[in-house]
Amino acid sequence: MAEDLHIITGTKEEQYLEIIPQIQGLLEGENDLIANLGNITAALKEQFKWWWMGFYLVRENELVLGPFQGPVACTRIKKGRGVCGSAWAKEQTLIVADVEQFPGHIACSSFSKSEIVVPVFFENKVIGVLDADSEYLNHYDETDQKYLEQILSLIPAESFKQI
Ligand code: SME
Repeated sequence: MAEDLHIITGTKEEQYLEIIPQIQGLLEGENDLIANLGNITAALKEQFKWWWMGFYLVRENELVLGPFQGPVACTRIKKGRGVCGSAWAKEQTLIVADVEQFPGHIACSSFSKSEIVVPVFFENKVIGVLDADSEYLNHYDETDQKYLEQILSLIPAESFKQI
């Protein structure tokens, strides 16, 4: 397949509905986790132009930085720390409208104002988190949660057997 994405303007929902089948095409038949997380990251960053977008992966008792696009970021986050570590500990998506109001938020970039963190599950265990950061307040909502969770469910199960 051609690897160029078709990027559209429109409502948030329209953008997800356009990008999701393209992400599905990128993931189909590819069982390398890093390749898949890399392409999800690139596709979402290109479509939505978020400030920072990437993954942290569970390595023993902490999250370690994985594929990402955007400014350099902190490499290790302990369970329960920051938005990422809290989403891991609670095993649920966290939407933070204003990161300054989130106790313990880890400020990798002073430009980041709002954030969504979605756990990545494999066999009912969190194996990592997707993290998206915006330079605008209140940028993420239930629409992002719904479609980002859907995108993570498209990752072929075989990919997770490598980790
Ligand atoms: N803000 C996150 C840390 C990761 S960076 O934003 C890329 C947190 O509080 O967990």
